[in-house]
Amino acid sequence: MAIPVTSILLIAVVTTLTPYFVESSDNNHVFSPCTDTTVQKSDGFTFGIAFAQRTSFFFNSSVQLSPCDRRLSLSSSGAQLSVFRPKVDEISLLTVNNSNFQPDSVGGYMVAFAGRKYAARSIPAFVANSTYIVTSFTLVMEFQKGRLQNIYWKRDGCSSCSGNSNFVCLNNQDCAIRTTSCKYRGGSVDCSIGIQLAFSGTDKHETVFNSWYEVKNLRQYSLFGLYKNLKDSLTSQYNSFF
Ligand SMILES: *[C@@H]1O[C@H](CO)[C@@H](O)[C@H](O)[C@H]1NC(C)=O
Ligand SMILES: *[C@@H]1O[C@H](CO)[C@@H](O)[C@H](O)[C@H]1NC(C)=O
Ligand SMILES: *[C@@H]1O[C@H](CO)[C@@H](O)[C@H](O)[C@H]1NC(C)=O
Repeated sequence: MAIPVTSILLIAVVTTLTPYFVESSDNNHVFSPCTDTTVQKSDGFTFGIAFAQRTSFFFNSSVQLSPCDRRLSLSSSGAQLSVFRPKVDEISLLTVNNSNFQPDSVGGYMVAFAGRKYAARSIPAFVANSTYIVTSFTLVMEFQKGRLQNIYWKRDGCSSCSGNSNFVCLNNQDCAIRTTSCKYRGGSVDCSIGIQLAFSGTDKHETVFNSWYEVKNLRQYSLFGLYKNLKDSLTSQYNSFF
């Protein structure tokens, strides 16, 4: 099934926390975020993040549907899509470089999603408006016997940025930066969006996923400095903030 979103951002990057390259096999042959699949450890898993206005994710102003559902007509509302393929149960940092993409210009909210008949989608998360941008997120994917059950944003109630004057805490849940500090508005901060991803639940052989447990037990954002291949601009941003 094709994704009913016109533009695909090619600037999405997955960086894993694996300190050295481990050869492992990927037996998941599903590469579309709008197709169902079941996975096991070491597989890749494709999912999408759609950026749009909050209202665009709701059908008839009331029911939130998967961005794969054509009834939403996301393409006509100018939504943008990023597709990622992280490795199952590896802690990954997903980055969306916004030097040519300003999330507020396409509506400022994002939804993570995968699947068709067994579609799972997160609630819409605020990313940016003309005043503020939230640049760090934690996303948890919950599987049961290898099938995606649930995708949710994990928030820390601004504890990662409290007392830091570079940040503003919005709605007691999101650490936001003023867009005037961002490079794309003439400031000095690379406001690329970083999404820390972790897995919970079990794979199709009922092997338990550990990555969410690991993330939860570390200070969530202290992990950013550990991503090896991440562009310096982004790591140094997080290192100096957290
Ligand atoms: C849309 O919502 C209205 C008012 O709540 C309802 O009367 C109508 O049946 C809904 N349409 C569909 C297609 O669900
Ligand atoms: C941007 O979002 C913040 C937090 O929800 C809100 O307080 C502010 O009024 C918004 N600004 C604009 C210009 O919409
Ligand atoms: C984003 O892209 C710009 C321009 O290509 C580049 O200078 C910058 O380092 C990139 N940032 C990240 C975090 O990859």
